[in-house]
Amino acid sequence: EKITISVIKADVGGWPGHSRVHPALIEKAREVLSEAQKNGTIIDFYVTYAGDDLQLIMTHKKGVDSPEVHGLAWEAFKKATEVAKELGLYGAGQDLLKDAFSGNVRGLGPSVAEMEITLRKSEPIVTFHLDKTEPGAFNLPIFRMFADPFNTAGLVIDPKMHMGFRFEIWDILEHKKVIMSSPEEMYDILALIGAKSRYVIKRVYPKEGHPVPKDEPVAVVSTEKLYEVAGEYVGKDDPVAIVRAQSGLPALGEVLEPFAFPHLVSGWMRGSHNGPLMPVPLKYATPTRFDGPPRAVALGWQISPEGKLIGPVDLFDDPAFDWARQKALEITDYIRRHGPFEPHRLPSEEMEYTTLPGVLEKLKDRFEPIE
Ligand code: 13P
Ligand code: 13P
Ligand code: MG
Ligand code: MG
Ligand code: MG
Repeated sequence: EKITISVIKADVGGWPGHSRVHPALIEKAREVLSEAQKNGTIIDFYVTYAGDDLQLIMTHKKGVDSPEVHGLAWEAFKKATEVAKELGLYGAGQDLLKDAFSGNVRGLGPSVAEMEITLRKSEPIVTFHLDKTEPGAFNLPIFRMFADPFNTAGLVIDPKMHMGFRFEIWDILEHKKVIMSSPEEMYDILALIGAKSRYVIKRVYPKEGHPVPKDEPVAVVSTEKLYEVAGEYVGKDDPVAIVRAQSGLPALGEVLEPFAFPHLVSGWMRGSHNGPLMPVPLKYATPTRFDGPPRAVALGWQISPEGKLIGPVDLFDDPAFDWARQKALEITDYIRRHGPFEPHRLPSEEMEYTTLPGVLEKLKDRFEPIE
């Protein structure tokens, strides 16, 4: 029998500003999920935060896109929003962009990463929770985990994964997807996913002959674009991901290794700046400087045979990531000194704040041809 792991998150109010989630919101969400666990809707759950995003991690037997489970998450976010309003938190209900729930939270504002899997004898997984960035921030690390032999030794030395993996890549502008095979199509994959604001890795699948069934994902990323839901800037997407590890998949340490390099991502300050992704323990998942820099939290779990979440282990709470944090701070200092200049500020096409069109409109009669 299959178990589904659902990670669903939303920003329903920041404390203060866009810095972190108030404990009262976490408490409220726990209350709602705890009730659902008693009713048997879900098997297990954990509620946490990453910056100002409230994070629900759930296991159940209802499959992906379950109206019951999505409805539950929606209810938890709605009730937490009420608390956020009582406390006057910043941007209460920020990511709940539609009033009515219609069976599925996709397209309503929250972000979702879910996978329905046949549990292996032992099922180690990592959930990633990012703040102040967008889904494309996962392209580089997921590629490195499942396709880069300089990151993942297992691609070379483990016969179970030597054949590589398949990548499901979404064009989030055109709403199209393509499945590509690594290592055969590696350069073509990179040609797409290097353009990370448009092409995002949605899922990774094993190939024929792998111990995990071919149609079961081994990694999944939330790809919701708030901008497309709302039609205007309403905060960043702040994505989540689930990655399975070990036994023919990247070892836990190979899943974490890409984050030892704090690569540049977009979404910092007003969703309009590039900056380094800093791997942090939960206690530091509280962006402050210039509302950042962007943060990544990694939680480690074992799924018990009954589908219980055995964890979390706060995986970046380790001195092995001190250097990455230090490097991120150096990059922060360097890039911040560009102020309003690209490439710290995003290129105009990606600017989600709307001052630039306004400025151009105001100046339109003053522009004249160059002789
Ligand atoms: P253990 O022998 O400690 O289980 O490690 C296996 C391994 O090589 C992990 O990378
Ligand atoms: P959030 O999406 O985390 O609310 O960030 C908004 C922002 O851009 C803060 O500078
Ligand atoms: Mg916010
Ligand atoms: Mg956020
Ligand atoms: Mg956001």
